[in-house]
Amino acid sequence: MRTGVWLVGARGSVATTSIVGGLALRAGLAGPTGCVTELPELRGPALPAFADLVFGGHDLATTPLCKRAEALADSGVIPWRLVAAIRDELSAVEQELRPAPVGATQADRAAAVVRDLTGFRERHELDRVVVINVSATEPAPQPHPGHADPAALRAALAGPDEVLPASSLYGYAALLAGCPYVDFTPSTGLRLPALTALAEEARLPYAGHDGKTGETLVKSVLAPMFAMRNLDVRSWSGVNLLGGGDGATLADPAANAAKVQSKQRVLGETLGYVPQGGTRIEYVEELGDFKTAWDLITFAGFLGTGMRMEFTWHGCDSALAAPLVLDLARLTAAAHAAGQVGPLTELGFFFKDPLGTPTHSLGEQWARLTEFARLLHGGGDSGHDHAG
Ligand SMILES: NC(=O)c1ccc[n+]([C@@H]2O[C@H](COP(=O)([O-])OP(=O)(O)OC[C@H]3O[C@@H](n4cnc5c(N)ncnc54)[C@H](O)[C@@H]3O)[C@@H](O)[C@H]2O)c1
Repeated sequence: MRTGVWLVGARGSVATTSIVGGLALRAGLAGPTGCVTELPELRGPALPAFADLVFGGHDLATTPLCKRAEALADSGVIPWRLVAAIRDELSAVEQELRPAPVGATQADRAAAVVRDLTGFRERHELDRVVVINVSATEPAPQPHPGHADPAALRAALAGPDEVLPASSLYGYAALLAGCPYVDFTPSTGLRLPALTALAEEARLPYAGHDGKTGETLVKSVLAPMFAMRNLDVRSWSGVNLLGGGDGATLADPAANAAKVQSKQRVLGETLGYVPQGGTRIEYVEELGDFKTAWDLITFAGFLGTGMRMEFTWHGCDSALAAPLVLDLARLTAAAHAAGQVGPLTELGFFFKDPLGTPTHSLGEQWARLTEFARLLHGGGDSGHDHAG
């Protein structure tokens, strides 16, 4: 199954690491460590092979992909030997990167994205293209009457207003082009009534939001433990220090607020109450693409005895995120091929703020994901309609 992976934010750290990783896997130069779709519970014939993935994308920036890969190699995110070995393949992907669309209205810009997507699908004779948003985190948008339903949206987009934030405009264009859409960021994406209705109309699946790769991943394992042992979590405070483009974006208070909200949801929904404390994100340029998170948890046990737990996470964000981007491309392509429509809640395992899923617990999310994969691989009827 020849599958296009169209990355919005294609020259960013996560996208570049995903492209380098995908090309290295295809060439047999790297193993699939970190790719959960290569685990025995998920692997199978319904997924496109790494060799079947073809990359393209949009970005506002113009830095050549090879230069971005070299910068990531310099900062220790990817090995230099891989960048050297796949230089020609990276140049071929460069030919499939497009500037962010221009046009007088948002309808014109959406039409330009649709042309880019359909051109890509036709040039490479792809069975389908999965659009994945890995661009900079946006602030929450201002409400607009065009968000209410598809007719209002179409009318509003033809006018002069900035109706949709960029993540949603790309999502809208993806739906028009017949492409499933995955949001790896905390941005709005398809989370507007007009767009979820359009996804249903277009009979397309979609997934999100905000890849779960570090502190929140650990939280989604620890919080169920406290809950299952009936321990009373009194406070949970975290500080995240990060550099890189993502860190610079999150230095903006509005983008920061969108991210912090996405990171805190797991506690309230897993514990059933919100303990004291919050999550802070600070930009430290020196850290580059590496991140440190410190968490302090205080909790009470039998007879009220107070106890505490601390953890420190030192992660390389892009190296943690990129294999999940490849996993999401493969699983979403398989879901689309199986005729699935609407939010792919079974992919909640991958996200901090999963769409419509009843659980934030990593263990329960894993059970749902593996069952989903079993059905996709022919273990039962997988063609149900999520939107129904
Ligand atoms: N790395 C992780 O572990 C992780 C986890 C969860 C979510 N995310 C999210 O993934 C996203 C990417 O992270 P990153 O570290 O690659 O950031 P980055 O800053 O390196 O890359 C973002 C890219 O998006 C581009 N961009 C911005 N606005 C755009 C637009 N309107 N159209 C097209 N391109 C646009 C930028 O030019 C840049 O190249 C962020 O939103 C981040 O919050 C990352």
